[in-house]
This record gives sequence, C-alpha cells and structure tokens, in this order.
Amino acid sequence: MSCLYSGNGVGVWSVLGEALNKGIFCPFGRNFAMVSIRPSVRQTPAYVPGEQPQTNDFIKLNTNENPYDPPAQVLAAVAAELPKVRLYPDPVSTQLRQAAADLYGVQLNQVLAGNGSDDILNIVVRTFVDPGEIVAFLDLTYSLYETIASVHGAKVQKIATDANFDLTGPVICPGAKLIFLASPNPPKGKHLKREFLWQTCAQAEGVVVIDEAYGDFSDEDHWDFLQEFDNVIISRTLSKSYSLAGMRVGLAIAAPTLIEEMDKVRDSYNLDRVAQALGTAALRNQAEFVPLWQKVRSTRTRLMAQLAKLDFQVCPSDANFVFAAPRWIAAADLYQALKEKKILVRYFNHPRITNYLRITVGTDAEIDQLLSAIASLKGSLE
Ligand SMILES: Cc1ncc(COP(=O)(O)O)c(C=O)c1O
Repeated sequence: MSCLYSGNGVGVWSVLGEALNKGIFCPFGRNFAMVSIRPSVRQTPAYVPGEQPQTNDFIKLNTNENPYDPPAQVLAAVAAELPKVRLYPDPVSTQLRQAAADLYGVQLNQVLAGNGSDDILNIVVRTFVDPGEIVAFLDLTYSLYETIASVHGAKVQKIATDANFDLTGPVICPGAKLIFLASPNPPKGKHLKREFLWQTCAQAEGVVVIDEAYGDFSDEDHWDFLQEFDNVIISRTLSKSYSLAGMRVGLAIAAPTLIEEMDKVRDSYNLDRVAQALGTAALRNQAEFVPLWQKVRSTRTRLMAQLAKLDFQVCPSDANFVFAAPRWIAAADLYQALKEKKILVRYFNHPRITNYLRITVGTDAEIDQLLSAIASLKGSLE
C-alpha cells in the first residue's frame, strides 16, 4: 500500500515524510507483512452478509427482515430520546431488560441486552471459550457461528445433519465448551426436535445456546429449559419478529450466574439510547406484533404451496423464510434473473445447498410479484 506522503520533499516535509514512511504516523506505509495479525483472524474467511442494496427499488426478500413496520406507538418512543442524544445511554439497558424479564417471566438478572443478537453470540464465545477449545454447531446453520468461533481461535466442530438438513439425534460433543443450536435452524427454517435439544443440554459439558432468532414465527419455544438446566442460554433478537433489524437489539436469557459473567465481557454502552427505547416499547407492545406474525405465517403457507406448484422442492419452514430448490433451472440463474427484475432473494454458494434459494416472507403483494416473476421466467423456458 502506498503512503499518503512520498518522502521526496525537503526540510520539515522531508522529516515528516520519513516519519510517515517508517509507519510512525502512517501504519499503512509499512510493509504489510511486518504487521502482526493473529493467525486465527488471518485464516478466517470474512463473513458475507446478505446484500443491502443502496437503492429503494428492490423487493427485498434476502435478509429475513419483517416486511411490516413497527406500530406507531413503538416508533413514537424515538421522539423522547432525540433531545437526550448528548447524554450517554443507560449502560446496562435496564428498561429494555426489565421489559424482556416481564414478558418472558424471568428475573432482571437473567437478561443481558446485546447490540443485535450477533453481539450476544460474540459475548458468549468470549465468555465461555478459550482459544483452542471446542465450539460446536450443525454443519448447516447460521454461518456467523463459524466466523466468530474461528476469529477467536476456537476449534470448530461441525455436527453432521442428514440429507434433509435435520439432526438425527442429540449433539454429543465431548469437550465442547459451547454448542450453538438455532431453532428454527437456517437456512431451512425448521425447528430442531425438542427431545434432541433436551438430551443435548442434559449431556453437554459446556454451555448450550438455543438461538431463537425466529422463535416468534414457530410453535416451539424453550423457556422451560431454563428451569431445568443452568448451562442453557436462550438468544433472541428484535430484528425479525419485532421489525427492528435496523436498531440492533438482541437478548440473552439464562441463569444469573452466566449473565453476570457475560456482563463483564460486554462492551459498556453496547446499546444506544434509541435502540433501548424502541426495543423496550416493542416488547411492552408485543400484542401489536402478534397479528403481524400471524400474517407472516399465513403468507408463508401460501408461498410454500405456490412454490410447490411452480415445481420447486420446498422445505417445511417454521421461520419467516422458505428454503426451496427449483427443479427446472439452476438456483444461481434464477437468483440472477430475479435480481434483474429487482427482486432480491438469497443464494448461498455452498456445495450442499447450491440448488436452493432462501426467500424471506414478504407482504402478500411482494410475494405475488415474486411468484408472477417466477411463473413468467418458467413459462419463457418451456
Ligand atoms: C439464527 C440467527 N441468529 C442470529 C441472527 C442475528 O440477528 P441480529 O440481527 O439480532 O444480529 C440471525 C440473522 O440472520 C440468525 O439467522
């Protein structure tokens, strides 16, 4: 990389240039190979998030956002915070945590707030796992687990799933300090079998995170696990069911002894005051969101049925997305053709799922446009 200053000047500029080139002021001017980067960081491929287009002309069905805005009484919470942006927020997100505790029937000291649930997942790894120790997760799941564990220098152990991407039994992973299990589990979106989860938690040597990012779209929850196991952390996000992806609000719910340790690892002031206020208002107004979840679920049922009619192999879903493989075109080609029609879905260039697309459940109107775009592409190939 070139430095800001070439070092060919005279006088004070030449001295400054020398300093710059020695990396005193401009580390980028040094030979990059000399900089010590942790091998675990260098060897980890960067996480690839779903595309966030910079224009508003896409039907966006690629990152599992809620298609419906939060209700007005939730959005109103922003106004009270704007005159206070000069002041730091509550470092421990008390109101938000109390709202979560009330909603989920736990104590305040059982709740930790995160800057999105990605923050929670990071905190968990840094609290319970030393570099070199084992972090386990399914061989197909939320890919950020691997990135976080690998950057930390943990040993990654992938648990095999069957041809339908399902668990075939409890996860038995001797020595694992941490097991991540998302239920519903992406990219398929089906919840994991309850008895396998229960047996996993009972036999685990370390902590088990049950990641319920999509829990509100499913009939299953795992709150009762908290009464039985002191090694279980339930992770929740307000990004999907509470329509607050742009605010970054996540929650960990667990035994106070685990939360107390995680709290030391968390960044201070990890949630800004607008995120705390919106998150609190959302949880306190849960009843306003329930009809939206029902709407997403009924659109999901319709989407699954229509995709099957359009000759897709469709995976059953308990989440706000549907994972499906077209039988008449390569998934990568369909992804591209839809993108050209300004409809974004998610394609993963991963060997096991190369012929699948993951489609977020949008509004009925958005799904109608998607289905008619697919039907016309299919028609043009026949
Ligand atoms: C299983 C799972 N967990 C966690 C997250 C992260 O959610 P958040 O927006 O709260 O960071 C996602 C996001 O897609 C996810 O799929």
